[in-house]
Amino acid sequence: MKTSLLLMILALTINGCKENTNSKQKLAEKGESSRKWWKEAIIYQIYPRSFKDTNGDGVGDLKGITQKLDYIESLGVTAVWLNPIYSSPNDDNGYDVSDYRDIMSDFGTMEDFDHMLSEMHERNIKLVMDVVVNHSSDEHYWFQQSRSSRDNPYRDYYHWWPAEKGEPNYRYSLFDEKGDAWKYDSLTDAYYLHYFSQKQPDLNWENPKVRKEVYDIMHFWAEKGVDGFRLDAFQFVAKDTSFPAIDDDLEKNFIEHYAVQDGLHDYLKEMYEEVFSKYDVMSVAEGAGRNFEDAHNLVDADRKELNMAYAFEGVDIAKPEGYSLKHFKEVFTKWEREFSEKGWLSIFLANHDQARLVSRFGNDSPKYRAPSAKMLNTFILSMRGTPYCYYGDELGMTNGNFETIEDFKDIAAINGYKKVINENGDVDQYLKNLRFSSRDNGRTPMQWSASEHAGFSTGEPWLPVTDNYKTINVVTEETDSSSVLNHFKKMVQLRKSHDVLVYGEYRLLAASHPEVYAFSRELDEKKVLVLLNFSADDAHVELEELSAISDTLINNLDIVDIVENRISLQPYQAIIFSLN
Ligand code: NOJ
Repeated sequence: MKTSLLLMILALTINGCKENTNSKQKLAEKGESSRKWWKEAIIYQIYPRSFKDTNGDGVGDLKGITQKLDYIESLGVTAVWLNPIYSSPNDDNGYDVSDYRDIMSDFGTMEDFDHMLSEMHERNIKLVMDVVVNHSSDEHYWFQQSRSSRDNPYRDYYHWWPAEKGEPNYRYSLFDEKGDAWKYDSLTDAYYLHYFSQKQPDLNWENPKVRKEVYDIMHFWAEKGVDGFRLDAFQFVAKDTSFPAIDDDLEKNFIEHYAVQDGLHDYLKEMYEEVFSKYDVMSVAEGAGRNFEDAHNLVDADRKELNMAYAFEGVDIAKPEGYSLKHFKEVFTKWEREFSEKGWLSIFLANHDQARLVSRFGNDSPKYRAPSAKMLNTFILSMRGTPYCYYGDELGMTNGNFETIEDFKDIAAINGYKKVINENGDVDQYLKNLRFSSRDNGRTPMQWSASEHAGFSTGEPWLPVTDNYKTINVVTEETDSSSVLNHFKKMVQLRKSHDVLVYGEYRLLAASHPEVYAFSRELDEKKVLVLLNFSADDAHVELEELSAISDTLINNLDIVDIVENRISLQPYQAIIFSLN
């Protein structure tokens, strides 16, 4: 009946719901799920090379980050994770560290760092540092010593295989142009192991001296006051150092063979004792192991290892040919369920190892870029788990303009290309995939304004600014109340003012709906309903919960169209209702 048509334009009442004391008490009773700053944190990830350049060399720097702290504060985020800023020859943009106690000269000085940190703390923004200790740079003093002779005291800091034992058993390398993780070094007639590039030799964690070095480095930064550590590739540090033959497609199944090997938990427990237990720092591992059991063993509080990990299954869903929302829901729901009682995870859909959020998971056409970017940010900020928001995604920045292999700067892209050639593979197909999924897409300069080089630098940027910077940039979006940026800020405030979005129980609704992701979150007497149309079509969904709406907390479009218990959602519409 038409009379039951309810077409409402509901006001945004972001600060409408305040948690009462009772709900906080109940929350506190939940033991492990009780309040922790790192559970409530909203983390903004900065790729320093691409954020803001203050000296015109085309490379972002620490002074640039400091200069933009008011902007970061205006987003409402509570912590920043910085990709590595240590001295590095930049074979892998800082993930090849040559001095863990110094700042990369491109980025500035230790004085710049100290100033940046104190300005962050001034604004109540915490800082999470990237700790890259599965490997160092081959230009690190340790490796220089290690390779110099077989009896050098640093020899056992790395994994060496003497050539007289014959060729070592094959190990797959993610960044090597031949895919071979062993590199022969004639200086001492031995091979060294590198899971990543040849300039990233793997450290030998069986050596207690290596572990002590790492804990000392972590103390150095913790004493400076940093608030957390993200452990790069840490799930790979433990290795069977007899290096037995692996009769498997290692390239395809390397996680199975490399992740969470014997010894890893001992190292983490030791790190917890030596470092984490001594400071109020958060710890997060890149990678959550091979299965749920591994993930729990990494992050369950009673294990005294890490606070959280991030699993790749979700972020890996988007493919050049698209992805199914059903699959997306299944993956996020299964991880959510698995960690609903114990443990804590991170929520993210993009980072510096991925192409842009809106280009991979949304729709970057001019018509749908803004609503789909808002919808995806709504998703990230309404799930349980600590959200990680990648710089530029708050604007809906898109993939860059990359055509030929010469346009790419990332070692993974370049050596991957060489590998395809070595293997007589399909170069055109490889390039096609790269244009969609290369990490360089997610590393283009931050789009600050419509001025030259998007206001990122006065010099030629190290990676070209994406063509659309004249319309997609901070200055333009700040002044447009309906921009992706302003939606992001509202969503951040909504999460910060509603514990239910942080701690509330998640329930998937309309599970098999092909276009709409619907779920509720509930904490004590508070309940919200999240509705996200992941498609470029109008979508309809019937839900009992729609009869209990009390308010619209956020909506990326101006319209709410409900007929009895059926809501019609516009393409990429995202709405959160509070329920009675
Ligand atoms: C994971 C990092 O996220 C990635 O950027 C890097 O290339 C590898 N680890 C090697 O450190």
